[in-house]
Amino acid sequence: MSAPSGSRLRLLLIGGGGGFVGRAVLSTLGSDFRIRSLHRHPTPNEGPEVEWIPEDLTAVQDWAPLLDEVDVVLNLAWYRWASESAFRSLHDGLRRLLEAAVRSGVRRFLQVSVPPAPASLEQDLPYLRYKRRFDVAVAGSGLSYRIVRPTMLFGPGDVLLSEMVRLMRRYPLFPMFGDGGYHVSPIAVSDLARVLRREAHGGDSGRLDLGGPERLTYRALTDRMFWVLGKRPRYWTTSASGARRLTRWLTALGSTLLYPYEVEWLMSDLLGLPAYEGIDPPLVKVGPYLEQLAAGRLVPNPRGLWPNL
Ligand SMILES: NC(=O)c1ccc[n+]([C@@H]2O[C@H](COP(=O)([O-])OP(=O)(O)OC[C@H]3O[C@@H](n4cnc5c(N)ncnc54)[C@H](OP(=O)(O)O)[C@@H]3O)[C@@H](O)[C@H]2O)c1
Repeated sequence: MSAPSGSRLRLLLIGGGGGFVGRAVLSTLGSDFRIRSLHRHPTPNEGPEVEWIPEDLTAVQDWAPLLDEVDVVLNLAWYRWASESAFRSLHDGLRRLLEAAVRSGVRRFLQVSVPPAPASLEQDLPYLRYKRRFDVAVAGSGLSYRIVRPTMLFGPGDVLLSEMVRLMRRYPLFPMFGDGGYHVSPIAVSDLARVLRREAHGGDSGRLDLGGPERLTYRALTDRMFWVLGKRPRYWTTSASGARRLTRWLTALGSTLLYPYEVEWLMSDLLGLPAYEGIDPPLVKVGPYLEQLAAGRLVPNPRGLWPNL
């Protein structure tokens, strides 16, 4: 198998490069690496310079030809919401990729994971159980590796902040879970891509938990969203259990805005991770992005969220 030729750049294989993080990674790492990208659905961001292989990561049994010439593997594939068997199957497919990467002598393995969560979720939620199991396998593989664990991400096509602004624009009240005093430190997806670029070239192994340049309460973030829309913040306050009920109900109706486990995670006050240090230019703040959203200057998420809302 050969990547688009004409260049002697090293080859990066990305699992799950067609999503939100993948789009930012392609535009940042595309000048440093030839890219072989595996995911199931086509995406307009991958031009002819990217070797897209339409492949289900759960189905690949023989990774050797796909890893031919590969220098770095970056895994982004995961599901936000799926059955236990779907998580198990993706985990098993990724384990086959990891084991083949060891055999084929890949130089470095990068895994994008998620920040610490409340113990109950870490133990019981298939989303986290299988993700952590794969993270542990990466750390024990013997490869040079980095497990990058960003907190809440923002950027064009995000599935959270852009939807929140849209709802605030449209409805008089916005739900507030508890007092909103728990913290967040949103990081731009373009900054995560810059960190991944650095890590792709680096050689240090270990885990890297990272947030953006501002640590603020969730309530301060939502207030700021109202202000950029030129509206006074107005909330409909709900308790933690009310929030879980609301998100269960929304999920049952087909909404993908916020899942019950995400509300629990948010309210646990574990998402205000410290800022990533030592990158130039510095990490960008969320404010200008909110202003762009409010001005309607950003395109919506290409997959859509809940188009009828
Ligand atoms: N978004 C955030 O705020 C955030 C925050 C912290 C950490 N993360 C982590 O960052 C990573 C990337 O997140 P994201 O927001 O970019 O997710 P995303 O937009 O949902 O993209 C996921 C990608 O994985 C691919 N994929 C999923 N299952 C696959 C399968 N079985 N076979 C092949 N490809 C598969 C999807 O493409 P197809 O469906 O076309 O196959 C898509 O390209 C995830 O591990 C996530 O947990 C995200």
